Amino acid sequence: MTITSPQGTVAYDVIDNIAWVKFNRPDKRNCMSPTLNREMMDVLDALEYRDDVGVLVLTGEGSAWSAGMDLKEYFRETEALGLPATRKAQREAYGWWRRLRWYQKPTIAMVNGWCFGGGYGPLFACDLAFAAEEAQFGLSEINWGILPGGGATKVAQELLPFRKAMYHAMMGENIDGKTAADWGLVNEALPLDALKARVTEVATVLLKKNPVALKATKDAMRRVGPMSYDDAEDYLIRAQEAANSYDNEGRKEGIKQFIDDKTFKPGLGAYDRSKQSA
Ligand code: COA
Repeated sequence: MTITSPQGTVAYDVIDNIAWVKFNRPDKRNCMSPTLNREMMDVLDALEYRDDVGVLVLTGEGSAWSAGMDLKEYFRETEALGLPATRKAQREAYGWWRRLRWYQKPTIAMVNGWCFGGGYGPLFACDLAFAAEEAQFGLSEINWGILPGGGATKVAQELLPFRKAMYHAMMGENIDGKTAADWGLVNEALPLDALKARVTEVATVLLKKNPVALKATKDAMRRVGPMSYDDAEDYLIRAQEAANSYDNEGRKEGIKQFIDDKTFKPGLGAYDRSKQSA
């Protein structure tokens, strides 16, 4: 059953342990208004620790994933209210993207259509990203006279080679899903009608993995970027030991099923978690 947020800007369904969360302003190409940003944070709050949610997918209703920030409600109307309102709107937007970057559950961006500017914040926040070949990605800010803010420049710089990032930001030209995959902005591009099946397949694989190990892995991948090799090495030891305090049996069960029971091979898939004692 689809649940819609009070103002209708976000909708979600939980089906077979996958939360399908939608930007739900199709008439406005799912651009992010302050209302949407507040409601998205509430939805992320509501879903994060639910036992029946193992993976969260973020997608868009209609022809857009998200056309970025709402130029009217987020920029013009907020700016008219002065600096406190501007800062508050920024906190609300950046807040849910940050929340999503460090979300408890694995997250997948399923980019069904337009993805512009501020949309790169939640795109990067999701652990994995799959796009329709028909989707269009653009740092359109330069086209209307600002720099790619709200993290968008940082996202391009993190995910793209320097020359491609610079061209993308300065030229304001769009790329399709296929090019986005070639450039590394998303994992894969598929025809739109095959997108949901592929994302479901990936989510289903993730649902079989040890959830404590998944959270440790996704955080570690983001954290080690700016660290020295030695710092990363040390962090990863501490992170695994901290993970052991939440689940001290999973890896032992995995080793047992491989070495003693000979019922699975780690090189070929996940161990059977149903056999794991608490
Ligand atoms: N902010 C505010 N309103 C937006 C919007 C945005 N980012 N993106 C779309 N809309 C609104 C349009 O104003 C229009 O509203 P209206 O029906 O009240 O006139 C409605 O959404 C539909 O948009 P429209 O432009 O008619 O749709 P389209 O399918 O022809 O084009 C886009 C889609 C995404 C190419 C086009 O809407 C666009 O360029 N949007 C802005 C993208 C952008 O630069 N975002 C970066 C912001 S940082």
